[in-house]
Amino acid sequence: MNRTLEPELMEDEAQVQAYAAADFSQENQGFVDRFREYFPEFTEGHVLDLGCGPGDIPIRFARTIPGCRITGVDASAPMVRLAEETVRQAGLSDRITFRCERFQDLTGVSVADAAMSNSLLHHVPNPLQFWHKLRLAVKPGSPVLVMDLLRPESPEEAQTIVDQYACGAPDILRRDFYNSLLAAFTEDEIASQLAQMNLTRLLIDVVDDRHWVVGGIIH
Ligand SMILES: C[S@@+](CC[C@H](N)C(=O)[O-])C[C@H]1O[C@@H](n2cnc3c(N)ncnc32)[C@H](O)[C@@H]1O
Repeated sequence: MNRTLEPELMEDEAQVQAYAAADFSQENQGFVDRFREYFPEFTEGHVLDLGCGPGDIPIRFARTIPGCRITGVDASAPMVRLAEETVRQAGLSDRITFRCERFQDLTGVSVADAAMSNSLLHHVPNPLQFWHKLRLAVKPGSPVLVMDLLRPESPEEAQTIVDQYACGAPDILRRDFYNSLLAAFTEDEIASQLAQMNLTRLLIDVVDDRHWVVGGIIH
């Protein structure tokens, strides 16, 4: 099955509210724990979160690694407004800040000591722009962790995954999940993107039936 693009940004207010209200605590804490497990020596510094969404991962990350500060980047204004309010309520506004900006438009080079991104890449029309920006944004020697969905073989398989993992979720979330699966990349496509960008030192791992993870040190 070929990739079917979905809208790049999540800007619809109902979509943003539904996404923020969904319980991704296990997935999000799992992502942060994986960063910790891959890079136990990372204890402080400036971390970029590309496509940070409603801010739950930055909050978990900040609590897990108290020496870091985080800049979340998301070009959806309603998403960033919500993230800022959630971070304020969590009492972490001094350590987590946001930029409402497309990651493609970030200008800083070597600004961060680490970078992470969860569930952004499937939104992006040209994935090579993402890997390019990721490499530019961090200092040489920085850890990066990227995770996203795997594209299934067929629309029917995508529907089966939605029914299995989002059974009982609101329709808007089920629709987004289905569209995201169709817009996602395969393991081979990710491996090819890393090869094209000369990022083959980053390792790709398929961690379950619907996710891949890329992690490693950017040189
Ligand atoms: C599926 S959400 C994931 C949010 C968060 N990382 C998480 O795991 O909960 C993807 C987010 O990426 C944002 N996004 C998509 N394309 C973007 C771009 N080019 N630059 C910045 N943000 C983008 C969307 O607006 C959306 O908030």
